Amino acid sequence: MKRTILVTGGAGFIGSNLLRLMVNKYSDYTFINLDKLTYAGNLENLKGLDSFDNYTFVKGDICDSNLLNDLFNKYSINAVMHLAAESHVDRSISNPMSFIETNIVGTVTLLNAAKYAWDGNYDDKIFYHISTDEVYGSLGETGFFTETTSYDPRSPYSASKASSDPLVRAYYHTYGMPVKLSNCSNNYGPYQFPEKLLPLMINNIKNNKELPVYGDGKYTRDWLWVDDHAEAIDVVFHKGAIGETYNIGGNNEWKNIDLVELLCDTMDQLLDREVGSSRSLIRFVKDRPGHDRRYAIDASKIKDDLGWEPKVQMQEGLLATAKWYLEQEEWMSRIVSGAYKEYYSKQYNS
Ligand code: NAD
Ligand code: DAU
Repeated sequence: MKRTILVTGGAGFIGSNLLRLMVNKYSDYTFINLDKLTYAGNLENLKGLDSFDNYTFVKGDICDSNLLNDLFNKYSINAVMHLAAESHVDRSISNPMSFIETNIVGTVTLLNAAKYAWDGNYDDKIFYHISTDEVYGSLGETGFFTETTSYDPRSPYSASKASSDPLVRAYYHTYGMPVKLSNCSNNYGPYQFPEKLLPLMINNIKNNKELPVYGDGKYTRDWLWVDDHAEAIDVVFHKGAIGETYNIGGNNEWKNIDLVELLCDTMDQLLDREVGSSRSLIRFVKDRPGHDRRYAIDASKIKDDLGWEPKVQMQEGLLATAKWYLEQEEWMSRIVSGAYKEYYSKQYNS
């Protein structure tokens, strides 16, 4: 089936990695990438895609209903992959409103535009909402998030995503819109904005800057290589059942301090530094307010029903990630030379 897919947030971290996979793999599909180009959106992340006939970039806001109506009409869009979001927990603590605007109001605006354009003719349509495991809240030492775990978000970011998920489901139950959802754990890999743990630490290690580990460093995340997530999205989009939700995770739990230490050792090797020199930069700093202790995904549904499993192991992925950021000196220096400096000094009092 020929498809015209509106991808929102395609200039961000996951969106750009997803588009690189999809545009290359599905030459008979057309991809419209709608992105507002906030501080986190970067056209450099999409280098090389402009030359593809099946790819178009549109700068715009998912809260702009007129623009959305025009796009659905002009391109006869029959599927949506919705990734656009404000995505950083620390920023949601200092500025919750932009999270409410984009993550909640933006999602409903997009749902309304799809409903208006598709007008009850849902035969070949899909609205796919890409969400996060943070909606489930925080785990103790044991247990996993399944698709039926109750929502218990604890930051403005996770609360905004937790509000958007049931709104998407409401359009399925109320209007019959064919929706799919997935909730994924922490992604890592190329093109991630260096406000997030791994690229921030890589950049600081390279520049011999202190490595700010929040609280006692024993907070735990389940890490997934970003291309594995992109493949999971492809699988859910094509094979996932309408109205269903799939949890996506890496079966790969790390306490922050252990991961940062592994990264330090990897960087020492890559930078040819004395063993232990990067670890000496680690500093335990003031904790994130409301910091979720542990996330861990039970990804058995997507494995059993759709046959997807993560492929890339942490050591391999971390080495590839560290190498990538070291090689992309210009990409990184363009980002950290601008408004990032101001953000960094406010966030870390330095
Ligand atoms: P990101 O911050 O790197 O990228 C977000 C993109 O959305 C940017 O390109 C930005 O310009 C764009 N955007 C923001 N507001 C917009 C608006 N109003 N209109 C149009 N575009 C807008 O985020 P990411 O890490 O790539 O995450 C993408 C999606 O995946 C988000 O919905 C996030 O909640 C979800 N998610 C992320 C992770 C992760 O580990 N990064 C894990 C699970 C789920
Ligand atoms: O779980 C999925 C989520 O993962 C996504 O929905 C979010 O968009 C994404 O940002 C990510 O959220 P986290 O808050 O887990 O990611 P972050 O990289 O900000 O932090 C990872 C862990 O590292 C967390 O426990 C906080 C800690 N941390 C983070 C930073 C930036 C530090 O200790 N020091 C830091 O400087």
